[in-house]
Amino acid sequence: MLQQALRVSCRSASPLVKWMERWAECASARPQAVKPLGDMPGPSVASFAWDLFAKRGLSRLHELQLEGVRRYGPMWKASFGPILTVHVADPALIEQVLRKEGQHPMRSDLSSWKDYRRLRGHHYGLLTSEGEEWQSIRSLLGKHMLRPKAVEAYDQTLNSVVDDLITKLRLRRSSQGLVTDIASEFYRFGLEGVSSVLFESRIGCLDKIVPEETERFIQCINTMFVMTLLTMAMPSWMHQLFPKPWNVFCQCWDYMFDFAKGHIDQRMAAEAEKIARGEEVEGRYLTYFLSRTSLPMKTVYSNVTELLLAGVDTISSTLSWSLYELSRHQAVQASLREEVLSVLGGSKGTDGSRRGPDASAEGHNQRSTQGELLFFRLYPVIPANARVITERDIQVGGYLIPKNTLITLCHYATSRDPAVFPHPDEFLPQRWLNKEQSHHPYASVPFGVGKRSCIGRRIAELELYLAVARILLEFDIKPDPEGISVKPMTRTLLVPENVINLQFTER
Ligand code: HEM
Repeated sequence: MLQQALRVSCRSASPLVKWMERWAECASARPQAVKPLGDMPGPSVASFAWDLFAKRGLSRLHELQLEGVRRYGPMWKASFGPILTVHVADPALIEQVLRKEGQHPMRSDLSSWKDYRRLRGHHYGLLTSEGEEWQSIRSLLGKHMLRPKAVEAYDQTLNSVVDDLITKLRLRRSSQGLVTDIASEFYRFGLEGVSSVLFESRIGCLDKIVPEETERFIQCINTMFVMTLLTMAMPSWMHQLFPKPWNVFCQCWDYMFDFAKGHIDQRMAAEAEKIARGEEVEGRYLTYFLSRTSLPMKTVYSNVTELLLAGVDTISSTLSWSLYELSRHQAVQASLREEVLSVLGGSKGTDGSRRGPDASAEGHNQRSTQGELLFFRLYPVIPANARVITERDIQVGGYLIPKNTLITLCHYATSRDPAVFPHPDEFLPQRWLNKEQSHHPYASVPFGVGKRSCIGRRIAELELYLAVARILLEFDIKPDPEGISVKPMTRTLLVPENVINLQFTER
């Protein structure tokens, strides 16, 4: 505007006017001034607190992401208890944040998790450690969890857990084939799966009668996740005033640490006995590798506790949603089954029987098929991830975000963004097959991206593939005739709000 006005009024340009013209041109070409955080839109502290605590917002945090986008656009700020957080709900902006995450990315302060460990004198595990300490554990674990060859070694162990899951589903079926509350069975499957990888021994989660300590461990994970949001939303001085959430939170962690320690000590003792008998000890399980390093035992205990915890709800929720959607989309179910059969078709055993799925079949399937994304876009188990950039202030979307600000990455909102995924609430796996329709690579990132992304990803994908493939080979899955449609809810992770019942008909 200014430029235009100058041109019109000063036909016979004097040097001063020419200079002003040049200045105006430069000014319009200059990038827009970076706005301070204070200019970012967002709800007031009072209205956000009202949404969270009076309107059951803690369990609807994923929906609040969608509301945030509608009200304020792709970036807004809000105060979650004592913490100010910037929400980012656009794939390109999320990419900007993650590309600036630095050498040792920090996910979020997870303040109450860290407070608990300090209080009890425990060490940090991979989920809670930062900086150099995190880097050294990550490198050690990465060797056994991220390399495809290393993960293939867990194939047999995980397949035997899947065998037990199939037996358990048969046992749990009513005469009409109905299995009620499938998530509860998948919790046990998740725990048994991750334990088998960690200890190379079975802990009986899928037995007819589940050991009481296992049930209690699962209960503790659930309660701890509920209490995580509460304890982080409350400033620590409030723990004195309303002690219940903090106390329950600590009791759950105590039990989980004891559980892990008990299993590790048992495994180590069995090995020591073998060595004493002069027998050779070798293992393919993670605890064995960890115990062979120079890590202090306290670090081994905390890492194993955190790995056990990370591998239960994630697997259970994903598997529950996958089967729920497959039961409601029979054509997709049939084509996925076809695909599994075509991969296994040529590979019969010496007795002529078809071999079961394994890691090599999984690799093939992932390259060729609808892929794992099918199960994650609608229900990302971690609906919101986070980063804290500690090294410097960063610019994102025209705002200057001071260092140490908590940045919430709204993956639930981006994976249901109609601009990226037309008909976002519909289960349309074929959208991933359409080569002409590409999606922003940061729109659906269920395992996170970059150096701090999920270290259990390969194990999780293998476990989920083996389970879904076997279930499809053994059963037709149909919805509960009296069932209702089930919505997700946030409990730190995204889980089904109601129980899911499904019919498993023998094939
Ligand atoms: C469906 C299954 C799973 C999903 C969707 C999932 C998702 C995620 C996500 C989103 C993160 C954060 C990544 C980031 O900050 O960029 C994460 C971290 C992590 N996950 Fe998973 N996860 C799954 C299964 C597992 C399993 C089975 C294990 C253990 C065997 C595991 C262990 C971990 C650990 C230890 C971290 C922290 C990594 C670090 O801070 O360096 N996860 N996961």
